[in-house]
Amino acid sequence: MAIKEETKMEKIISLAKRRGFVYQGSEIYGGLAGTWDYGPYGVELRKNIKGMWWKKFVDDRDDMYGVDAAILMNQNVWKASGHVGGFSDPLVECKKCKHRFREDQLEEENRKSNKCPDCDGALGESRQFNMMFKTHIGAIEDEESISYLRPETAQGMFVNFKNIMDSFHPKLPFGLAQIGKAFRNEIAPRDFIFRSREFEQMEIEYFVDPRDQKKVTETFDTLFGEQISFLKDLGLSDSKIHKIEVPDADRAFYSKRSVDTEFDFPFGQKELLGIAYRTDHDLKSHFNLSKVDLSYYDEDTKERIIPHCIEPTFGLDRLMLAVLSDAYTEDEIDGEKRVYLKFAPKVAPVKVAVFPLLKNKPHLVEKAKEVFQMLKKEFSARGINGVMFDDNGNIGKRYRRQDEIGTPFCVTIDFDTVEKDAGVTVRGRDGGKQERVEMGKLVEYLTKGI
Ligand code: GAP
Repeated sequence: MAIKEETKMEKIISLAKRRGFVYQGSEIYGGLAGTWDYGPYGVELRKNIKGMWWKKFVDDRDDMYGVDAAILMNQNVWKASGHVGGFSDPLVECKKCKHRFREDQLEEENRKSNKCPDCDGALGESRQFNMMFKTHIGAIEDEESISYLRPETAQGMFVNFKNIMDSFHPKLPFGLAQIGKAFRNEIAPRDFIFRSREFEQMEIEYFVDPRDQKKVTETFDTLFGEQISFLKDLGLSDSKIHKIEVPDADRAFYSKRSVDTEFDFPFGQKELLGIAYRTDHDLKSHFNLSKVDLSYYDEDTKERIIPHCIEPTFGLDRLMLAVLSDAYTEDEIDGEKRVYLKFAPKVAPVKVAVFPLLKNKPHLVEKAKEVFQMLKKEFSARGINGVMFDDNGNIGKRYRRQDEIGTPFCVTIDFDTVEKDAGVTVRGRDGGKQERVEMGKLVEYLTKGI
């Protein structure tokens, strides 16, 4: 059933709150703009996305090293990277209502007429606004004690390049990978978790030999292909994924080539993730400022070089929003409207929910708990999470709740299960079809479906 895109977003936000995926940050105090809290199913969904990412890009490869750097770093890190001098957005303020906007995100007509989109008042001069959150380390607040909440995880990997080289002696090409929080004082956080002030990134800094540019291009294309393949692993619709070669004028100053991957969100086609050829910008800048040698010694040619870096970067919150919005589905079953999240089973926070048909029949409840514990144990042995026991409300309500959580399978224990040993009813989320499955074949049936 087609859903109007502008109302679809409102419905997703409401479902995400109702079912415990995403809450407004500091909600009981009226909220804090640009911050979001994740509830139990949001945590599970994010954990699944992060787990799949780490498995694909780190565990299943021999050329990747995981790191987890501190969020607070020496201020020189951000001087060398260029963030202190240049990590800013153009800000304009309305002289009348005092609302602030990112100049580059204003509608064409507002930009040309210099009028405020909210009140038609005159917009003031544009000025550059640095997006890093500044703080001070220790008891004295002076120039020396300045630090920043990191605006990207990337630099935590560049500053550990030498540590990894010294401990593991990797040969080029190899990569460092990190998942962690990043912070940006966005002028206009918007579109739910799409643009927030605190978010999570999953980044790779992949170091290559710059002397073979053909190989560098091949590696860039391969890594880009793996980014797209990850989106497919998450079950995102092919037709909503778009590759954008970023033109010279729009690229970050350090990048020789950038490809953004955009996605059709309910509010339009927007950047989901990216890949950039950062050349030797970062290692060279840190080498220059720290005076610590960040070169690489090629034992074959006996040359010292500064490796170049290709950076595939992913935003976890945007991926979560892409997964949520792509999965959001409305249909009708037996003449009744329903909403469900059509998650790929691998990402679903709950994979299987087990119900007793009636919660006031102790022998059904007891059997359902037994099946629940058995499935939990069997799934855990197979590395699958997300088995849930649910006896809240009648069976219709439980199906509706599980549909909204995106649970692929519901298993019901009824009188025939207990009295006639006649198996259980398994209901599939997408078509709402119910099947009778023998107890001895239940684990196999479900794991196949997941
Ligand atoms: N290290 C490179 C880097 O940080 P970026 O394009 O600025 O590049 C990478 O950010 C990814 O982080 C984006 O593609 C997006 O998914 C995510 N991201 C950036 N700003 C964000 C924000 N304010 N809220 C949520 N996600 C954001």
